[in-house]
Amino acid sequence: MSRKILVTSALPYANGDLHIGHLLEYIQTDIWVRFQRLMGNECQWVWADDAHGTPIMLKAQQQGITPEQLISDVKASHERDIAGFLLSPDNFHTTHSDENREMSELVYKRLDEAGLIIRKTIKQLYDAKEDMFLPDRYVKGICPNCGTADQYGDNCESCSATYDATELKDPVSQVSGSVPELRDSEQHFFALSEFSDMLKQWTAGPAVQDEVGNKLREWLDSGLQNWDISRNAPYFGFEIPNAPGKYFYVWLDAPIGYIGSHKNLAARTGENFEDSWKPESDVELYHFIGKDIINFHCLFWPAMLEGAGFRKPTGVFCHGFLTLDDAKMSKSRGTFVAASTWLEHLEPEYLRYYFACKLNSNVADLNLNLEDFVARVNSDLVGKVVNIASRCAGFVSKQFDGMLSKQYPPELMKDYQQLVDAQTQIAEYYEQREFGKAMREIILLAEHANTYINDAEPWVKIKDDTKRNEVQAICTVGLNYFRIIMTYLSPVLPQLAQKTEQFLNTELTIKALDTPLTNHKIEKFKPLMTRVEQAQIDKLMAATAEQNKAAQAASALTGGNSVATANHEPIKSEIEIGDFEKVDLRIATIVDAQPVEGADKLVQLTLDIGVETRNVFAGIKAAYKPEDLIGRRTVMVANLKPRKMRFGVSQGMVLAAGPGGSDLFILSPDEGADSGMRVK
Ligand code: MSP
Ligand code: ZN
Repeated sequence: MSRKILVTSALPYANGDLHIGHLLEYIQTDIWVRFQRLMGNECQWVWADDAHGTPIMLKAQQQGITPEQLISDVKASHERDIAGFLLSPDNFHTTHSDENREMSELVYKRLDEAGLIIRKTIKQLYDAKEDMFLPDRYVKGICPNCGTADQYGDNCESCSATYDATELKDPVSQVSGSVPELRDSEQHFFALSEFSDMLKQWTAGPAVQDEVGNKLREWLDSGLQNWDISRNAPYFGFEIPNAPGKYFYVWLDAPIGYIGSHKNLAARTGENFEDSWKPESDVELYHFIGKDIINFHCLFWPAMLEGAGFRKPTGVFCHGFLTLDDAKMSKSRGTFVAASTWLEHLEPEYLRYYFACKLNSNVADLNLNLEDFVARVNSDLVGKVVNIASRCAGFVSKQFDGMLSKQYPPELMKDYQQLVDAQTQIAEYYEQREFGKAMREIILLAEHANTYINDAEPWVKIKDDTKRNEVQAICTVGLNYFRIIMTYLSPVLPQLAQKTEQFLNTELTIKALDTPLTNHKIEKFKPLMTRVEQAQIDKLMAATAEQNKAAQAASALTGGNSVATANHEPIKSEIEIGDFEKVDLRIATIVDAQPVEGADKLVQLTLDIGVETRNVFAGIKAAYKPEDLIGRRTVMVANLKPRKMRFGVSQGMVLAAGPGGSDLFILSPDEGADSGMRVK
């Protein structure tokens, strides 16, 4: 009997591009979902962008666009990457949707009616100058844990401690630059502590991995606090019904977004989505998540579901983090690989296969070793799998008019059956998310096939006219091996599987493997997959380094995430006149301006400052066409320490104002200020 399965992946935030760390999770989900469908189960994957919260509001402000515009741009970019990596969600929606608003309000209403919403007045930081409560990311101060200055009100970038914004020492409002005061604010809390017993039981059961269960038990044993699910305006999210100026905290409506996406899908397909979410539902529900969001999915979420009368997940599948060549991916090191950059240089299926080889059912981090990656893809996929087909196909089409033998060699039927029987073990590995083990089994089958062809030597036998039937039989056997192997690999390599279907002129299904393919016409063989070259990797990493650098330069130029709004950037702390005199500002004439190859955001400026000319790389390409800058005068910092960049040395910096991107304005002096004059 076929199972009914509902699957989700964690919803990516709608304020940035997908990167290969995200892809680890999304490829893991896709392989599992495609495997379930291959086994004939009804498996739906509902997914969405996570579109709410302060960081998204801030990013939109920085770019001078509405949050709605930002999340719609990002969604389009996420959708391109999803298609590019051959991911097959049944629905990719957004949490900023009518369905999600309706479901979030329903959950909240049911919790409230059950007495599980507690309204409590607490002290929060208030900016009296701007007349507003300050969200955590709008306050900076000294970390209460390690004493590092300039930290946000939610967590410390230096020691990773999380704390309440009210605990910051010497807090400063990022909106007005003033010192915030403490004011009473009524917040809505979800009575999480009521669910302690239920959660102790649930987390000890089969729904969570053992290692995750252990971690959860630590939290549960130290006691659960009620959870603040409300945020004060300004906030990008859903306003809480009957509580003007209060919004649902993003982590309340984000997981409900799974239901919202399902509801949206059901409206299209006409199915009933509500039944899947009832406590008595026979649908299995699984969430794929990373280890950083365990508490949300294994504590808050099951408690919310239970409190609101919904079913709980059947399982939460948690994975570790991706490292690149044994290090955390980082923009400052230039190793933060965007999904779209990968697609510009390499096939998606290479990464899908490599991740499959690495993935297992535990929570340990996984490493993408680029050298190992090249070797693995070339040796396994090109050298072993595709090789089977390319060694047999030529003979069949040239010598036998594309026809396979009338009969499968009887003495090899037992062997055929063994390969078909291998599916039990392979399926078990897929089901358990032990993809690495599944890949190993499958590659063993490919090695078996290659050994068979090597020993049978069709290329020798073809020279002997009496052995034509034998050659046809050898190739028939080889191509049947290939068909079995590609069926097993189809959850990982959907594109290669599709090409195989065209080539073999048959659909790859588990059922079809019952009988070997004989007396059947195949299509002409076209190369199915090419080798990965080290040069492609080099180009990928060079492009990544460049992008990361440009992104960092742009964020440095605009003050990064710390800008609340362009015109509200807080005034920096006082300096002495002597400090100012250290800065040598000069009038500069832009005598040349050129685009920089490989750096989208940079313009190379040649600046005449009277005594000499300077070469400066400026991140102003989004705001100015290089040719429009030539001949203009501006202001530069002439004594800034030269900085070595990939394209050359930058000898100084030009001054500009604005939030960044295309909203950037270089300063121009009045008539009469000539090249080289010092700005005082
Ligand atoms: N928006 C929340 C999830 C809400 S789910 C109701 C979020 N978004 S995220 O964009 O930061 O991360 C999305 C998923 O990608 C998470 O499961 C996260 O663990 C995973 N990963 C992000 N970076 C990753 C790696 N470097 N490696 C592996 N997974 C990574 O969290
Ligand atoms: Zn700290």
